[in-house]
Amino acid sequence: MKRINSIILKLLLGNLLCWNVVSLAAGLVLPSAASQREMIISTAPDVAKRLKQVLGIEESSLQLEKSAALRTSPLVLLKIQAQQLEAISQLIHREFHRCGGFMIEADGASLAELTLESAVHADLERDKGLYQINQQVLVEKISREVSEGNLLTTIKALSSNPNRYYRSSHGKASQQWLKEQWQALTKTQWGVSVDFFAHGDFPQPSVIVSWKGSLRPEEIVVLGGHGDSIAGMFSRESAPAPGADDNASGIATITEVLRLLVAQNFRPERSIHFISYAAEEVGLRGSAEIARHYKNQGVNVQGVMQLDMVNFFDGRNDMVLITDNTDNEQNTFVKNLVAAYLPRIRLGENPCGYACSDHASWTRQGYPASFPFEAAMEDYNSAIHTARDTLDRSNNNARHAVPFVTLAAAFVVELSML
Ligand code: BES
Ligand code: ZN
Repeated sequence: MKRINSIILKLLLGNLLCWNVVSLAAGLVLPSAASQREMIISTAPDVAKRLKQVLGIEESSLQLEKSAALRTSPLVLLKIQAQQLEAISQLIHREFHRCGGFMIEADGASLAELTLESAVHADLERDKGLYQINQQVLVEKISREVSEGNLLTTIKALSSNPNRYYRSSHGKASQQWLKEQWQALTKTQWGVSVDFFAHGDFPQPSVIVSWKGSLRPEEIVVLGGHGDSIAGMFSRESAPAPGADDNASGIATITEVLRLLVAQNFRPERSIHFISYAAEEVGLRGSAEIARHYKNQGVNVQGVMQLDMVNFFDGRNDMVLITDNTDNEQNTFVKNLVAAYLPRIRLGENPCGYACSDHASWTRQGYPASFPFEAAMEDYNSAIHTARDTLDRSNNNARHAVPFVTLAAAFVVELSML
């Protein structure tokens, strides 16, 4: 019975999640000239096979074999017309019950960029000894001081916005509020600045805390999560979307890591960027722009961790490490961090099945990313993307998020110290 329920739920949820993509696609096909525009999408081999059969779509001759994204999960690049987007979306939804089952890789002008990118796509070199674990004293101290109360306060504040939709005034105001919080937390700390990363096509900015490293400032460690939320199918600008789990929980975790590092007067040797991405829920748009910008500027990112949904317990796992669109070598390091600093937790592993969050934007640009998640894929919080994604789904506590603070702190401390 539970199984049948969960299948029905999955289909229903699939519907909701996929609406993001359908409407995104629909939004892209307006004028007839635009609808004949050539685009490149990437999708899983089984989906690609069906799209070729049913819609006569052809594979793209672009080669991206060198990209990290393709090494961790096989993808096929397809050449399509913009007007086919909606049909593709519907087919993937109908036959595969998969959401975000494809990604737009390039269109128009950025096609040229992609060709160039694939030609020069070589992963940045990782430092030798990067994955050493040698900051036990500091990390264990931090781990003892994690405050569940602080996590709750931030989740409550963020989820009390009507929504954090990327096109709404609330979505902009919530990022403004977060910027002020992060500024207040870090104002006494040497080498820290907090800035907006403005996006050209929508009002919601991303927020970035840059904490400068003392020895290798040009090497960066990224800890990020998305600040936006979404619910409803129409009038999303006003639809209630508390997003307590998805993803106030991840942003609260990042905020608590920041507070703890400042409390320890931490002096990183590599730089750390803490990021609240805009517009994740509508196709990873904020993080895609940021990761592309870093890549174009030649920024040397040594490691990325994504926090998206960390406060819902599936009854079995304390944490589940996402295995696709992430970096194997860095994932092994993350598992070693769990063994060292959270030896008692139950850690599972699971693929997400598609580019389900902002880690994928970094992976696409050849940067190593990891994504520790709240639950097994069949048992995650089914209230996300609805008005019911509130704290009472987590029994009004933030207990499940606590080990994520320790892991994220361990990740940035160990990676930012030589
Ligand atoms: N937090 C979700 C992703 C997620 C959901 C991961 C369930 C694991 C289990 C994220 O905010 C999201 O909804 N992502 C979009 C991505 C799409 C717009 C490319 C999604 O899954 O629809
Ligand atoms: Zn999310």
